[in-house]
Amino acid sequence: MDYLKLDESDMVTFSAPVNIAIIKYWGKSCQKLNLPMNSSLSLNLNQDHLQAKTTIATSSTFIKDRIWLNGKEQDVEGNTRLQACLKEIRRLARLQAVKRNEDVHRVTRCSQKVHISSRNNFPTAAGLASSAAGYAALVAALGQLYRVDGDLSGVARCGSGSACRSMLGGFVEWVKGGKSDGTDSIAQQFVGEEHWPELRVLIVVTSAQTKAVGSTEGMQRSVETSALLQHRVDNVVPDRMKALTDAILNKDFSAFAEICMKESNQLHAVCQDTFPPLRYLNNVSEQIIRFVHAYNEHCSDTRVAYTFDAGPNAFLFVLERHLSEVASLIYKIFGPATDNATDFFRGERFKAYQSDLPDFETKICPTSAEYVICTKAGPGPLQLFEHNISPKTGLPL
Ligand code: DP6
Repeated sequence: MDYLKLDESDMVTFSAPVNIAIIKYWGKSCQKLNLPMNSSLSLNLNQDHLQAKTTIATSSTFIKDRIWLNGKEQDVEGNTRLQACLKEIRRLARLQAVKRNEDVHRVTRCSQKVHISSRNNFPTAAGLASSAAGYAALVAALGQLYRVDGDLSGVARCGSGSACRSMLGGFVEWVKGGKSDGTDSIAQQFVGEEHWPELRVLIVVTSAQTKAVGSTEGMQRSVETSALLQHRVDNVVPDRMKALTDAILNKDFSAFAEICMKESNQLHAVCQDTFPPLRYLNNVSEQIIRFVHAYNEHCSDTRVAYTFDAGPNAFLFVLERHLSEVASLIYKIFGPATDNATDFFRGERFKAYQSDLPDFETKICPTSAEYVICTKAGPGPLQLFEHNISPKTGLPL
């Protein structure tokens, strides 16, 4: 590549958060536009611990759109979701530029090709919603590069449905909408990341491997074969959404926890009801579910809640005042065979582990998790000024 020298206006970088669904999105009414059968609600996690960071560079010398994920170049031509995002943002950019009477240069800039470099600070495709964070960072950066105003969650949705919920901070609802063109199927912030400061999330990574059946394919199979899915959409989700939003507003942990666990269980019941069945949980995930119920019962109080997406890693919700005890129990039950707690816990620091742990019957078979990330709620996409692409070569750094 010739010497380029891209300047600041030719490069934009955004980071975006991973979101964890509490009311789950599973099943589409339109595959092409990623329109969901039901509304969903999730929490965005802190970007210090889980983040996708995407740089987009543009130059009249670039001959085609190119993308690198964690430094490895990917196919762009065959990636219909990426194509859909690029096409839609360029269409909006031209439309808005014309409306603003901007000069031809800015309008034609939308015809220039882009180089995209995206990096995650956590394992890709391990059930940690990396595609959601990736598409949200991509769309936020494209929006800034092309100066597109207004809500871009619909564009992120075209990349990956759940990505629209990573476009805002805190608790976010993806309203399913009713229009066939999808224009009202957008994300809305329910409450910001500062709303419930005591809430913590422990992500128990039970396997950092790629899942066998991706969400897109899995949910399509459920739409075609599961009778439980339609029942859930019609009769369960609407009431749960109302009860969950009330619980969040009132910071009612017990109510929040119960809905959270029931939603996770129903998602995996739908997966089991799919034909052939889908299995995303592994043996450690099952033991974590058993531990949570045994612990809550022992405390005669709901202190921990689990939720699992289409993967075996557990997302545990706990209030700060119980964090130390819960983390210590997880270490005791699911920790590594060798005594090395420093490597086991990552992310947010918390008070020293407790030694006077409650002793209760869990009937848990000996299993160990890989590691635990301690995190909390966080903001939506953030603009960064450190880029992933070299201004001299236009290639990933
Ligand atoms: C289980 O958003 O990854 O995490 O729209 O096909 O890209 P596509 O699916 P995706 O599905 C996420 C499913 C889930 C539940 C959720 O996040 O709500």
